[in-house]
Amino acid sequence: MIQIKPSIHYGKIKKEILKSHIFGKNILIISSKTVWEKSYLSSVIGQLSDKYILKIYTHIQPNAPFSDLQKIIDDYKMDVSPDTIIAIGGGSIIDAAKALSVSFQNISIADLFYKIKPMPRTSVKLIAIPTTAGTGAELSFGAIIYDDVKNIKGGIRGEIIQPNIVFIDAELYRTAPKKLISEVGFDCLTHAIETYVSLKSDALIRYQSVAAIKTVFTFLPNAVDGDLNALKNMAIASSMMGVNLAYSSTCLPHRIQYIIGPLTNTSHAQGLIALYKGWIKLIAENKSKSGLNNLEYDLGGRVNLVDKIHKLKEDLNINYSISTLGVNESQIEHIAEKTTGSVQNDPIYISNETIIKILKESV
Ligand SMILES: [Fe+2]
Repeated sequence: MIQIKPSIHYGKIKKEILKSHIFGKNILIISSKTVWEKSYLSSVIGQLSDKYILKIYTHIQPNAPFSDLQKIIDDYKMDVSPDTIIAIGGGSIIDAAKALSVSFQNISIADLFYKIKPMPRTSVKLIAIPTTAGTGAELSFGAIIYDDVKNIKGGIRGEIIQPNIVFIDAELYRTAPKKLISEVGFDCLTHAIETYVSLKSDALIRYQSVAAIKTVFTFLPNAVDGDLNALKNMAIASSMMGVNLAYSSTCLPHRIQYIIGPLTNTSHAQGLIALYKGWIKLIAENKSKSGLNNLEYDLGGRVNLVDKIHKLKEDLNINYSISTLGVNESQIEHIAEKTTGSVQNDPIYISNETIIKILKESV
């Protein structure tokens, strides 16, 4: 069964509406530094200080490293735990907040990450205010975080960590640099394509994927140029793909990116853009088995998705390969060996050889 939730609020974020969703007195605010400094949100949230106890953090780095999360938990050790968390930022910030929402109950982040302890049944109320359109973190059930001691990137997963309410204001997405809007927008496209062809897909997932793919091709270039309507459409596509991520699964590019990211110190989206070079080629080589035939048909027929993706990458100037990211051919076997997770959801996965092939075609 697929349930589309939580509620999403659109438009300018005002004090009163924010207040109506706050639970308790102690509020933890985790924000991207740029958005906190450049947007109107800091002044709206500042107005809450008469009635609430606010603690504001803007130090979370990309990939949400454990040590950054631990700093917040340690700060609260002497204090009462937060009643509500407000997360303002891109995927890493929202994922950090999702992980923290279940980490104030004497369960360490590492225990959840390495599945030593089960997910708690309760969480701190979480309000998500995304400021980049693509990761879908605001609606998905997963949080990708990073063990910066053991150098392992992975996820914690569970319906309990899904944010309780999402605020979307297209204006906030303008604070991101053009390159980031392009790259993260491509992540949204990968969620749409992968959740469509995944063996865990179903009719509603595929319907939403088709809508999101059309949105990316129509609106991403204008969104990069700061067009508000285009940004709003991208924000909706990103959020709906969060639902797809919750109920279907991604495919091999996402599995392999988890290894390439820490190895090359490149972002999630950059890794995916590079890996699509090889993956989409292999998907296109076996159109009926991979489901690409059906996808192109659903997109209205007479569509060559591979060409469209290539053109989009060219137009946005993000035509990366894994060599651009710093991977050399001698590392391919090691990357393939390290790739784990539910690889069998990918329609073209046969064995480790499939991963090696994708990597070789992505050089
Ligand atoms: Fe992704």
